[in-house]
Amino acid sequence: MKILSIETSCDETGVAILECEGSFEGASFTILGNALYSQATLHAPYGGVYPNLAKREHQNNLAPLAKEALREAGMLKAVEKTDAVHKDVLKNIRNEAFKNDIEEFLNTTEHPDIEFIAVTKGPGLEPALWTGINFAESLGRAWNIPVIGIDHMEGHIFSALLKQEVDSQQSTEQSEVPLNPKRYTLNAMHFPILAFLISGGHTEFVVMKEPFVYEHIGATRDDAIGEAFDKVARLLDLPYPGGPQIAEVASRSRARGEKNEISFPRPMAKDDTCDFSFSGLKTAVLYKLRDMDKIDEKVKEQIAEAFEDAARDVVIIKTKRALEATEPKILAVGGGVSANTEIKRALTALVDEEFSNIQLLFPDATLTGDNAIMIGVAGYLRHLSGTRTASNLSALGNLKLGE
Ligand code: KG4
Ligand code: ZN
Repeated sequence: MKILSIETSCDETGVAILECEGSFEGASFTILGNALYSQATLHAPYGGVYPNLAKREHQNNLAPLAKEALREAGMLKAVEKTDAVHKDVLKNIRNEAFKNDIEEFLNTTEHPDIEFIAVTKGPGLEPALWTGINFAESLGRAWNIPVIGIDHMEGHIFSALLKQEVDSQQSTEQSEVPLNPKRYTLNAMHFPILAFLISGGHTEFVVMKEPFVYEHIGATRDDAIGEAFDKVARLLDLPYPGGPQIAEVASRSRARGEKNEISFPRPMAKDDTCDFSFSGLKTAVLYKLRDMDKIDEKVKEQIAEAFEDAARDVVIIKTKRALEATEPKILAVGGGVSANTEIKRALTALVDEEFSNIQLLFPDATLTGDNAIMIGVAGYLRHLSGTRTASNLSALGNLKLGE
């Protein structure tokens, strides 16, 4: 079956069209269309995501992106309708320009062969979430198809559980990975699965005991790990989003292979929970910078490296504790920070050396950050498990997995 999925929880606007097949065991997903627009450069001057700007950008981009995804899927059939769209369809859209865009989209596009729509309902920025939900529900009403609300974090978990199918015709001698990934299958699910979610808004360990049954075993008590990367980047005058910037600057110091004289504390490393704290680490960087009279490029690189080392070490200490406490069959790491090379390397070494019976899974490089594909995947699996649409979805900024 074909489904359309929408992601607008933060600063990426995503619309995807997936052909989904199979049962939970061995489900497969062909990416027919995937239109993703990152607002990151627009938010850069604010040093973080500015909610009202995110909302406005989602409003401006949803209809064009939906068109683009349909076009890529070969499902955009142009029509010229003269009747006005029924007013019920657009009843929750207050912004006039957004309303006109949706109306124009519906009036020029034939009802595509889509079974249902999956949309992120939370967690995230509520004004941003509402935009996606209102758009999804307008399309759902116009096309008379259901809309399923999806937990963004569940999307991140499933993005780690997807295995890319390599099309031999696309692969080259240099690379096993096709340039344009198009098809994924769901990894065999062996429970319990320990999900480690590390993003701009979350740092948490969640055990999936069986499909969609969650137990929370640890989380950050203050800043999320990605937020710490972003804040430290700001202190170092690096642009938002700071995670990839810090990693890049730190790698230059790492490559020199010299002993780094700068070091930061490992917050909560000795505490026997699976919880984290990152705000103190950010403050330690701030104080270090205040103490120094001259911050040249080399020092900047050393600070970035020392910060990344500290973040990596607490990640490893806490992951070890979480693995010992929960004895999972799979460790699935998801969220934007799962793209971090140093953290990935250290987690891989930990599992290889001390937990070799556990399968460690990371998302494909194109699926670490926010995207609509993961929302579609979670939507299909929820659909298979019998989750049905609520008649009216609400944006849930603080949604917690399993609630
Ligand atoms: O999952 P995501 O795209 O959005 C949220 O749901 O938050 O994660 C974004 C976060 C940002 O804080 C960004 O700086 C961080 O992921 N990030 C990284 C890297 N790539 C993205 N952090 C460290 N290293 C990276 N390579
Ligand atoms: Zn995310």
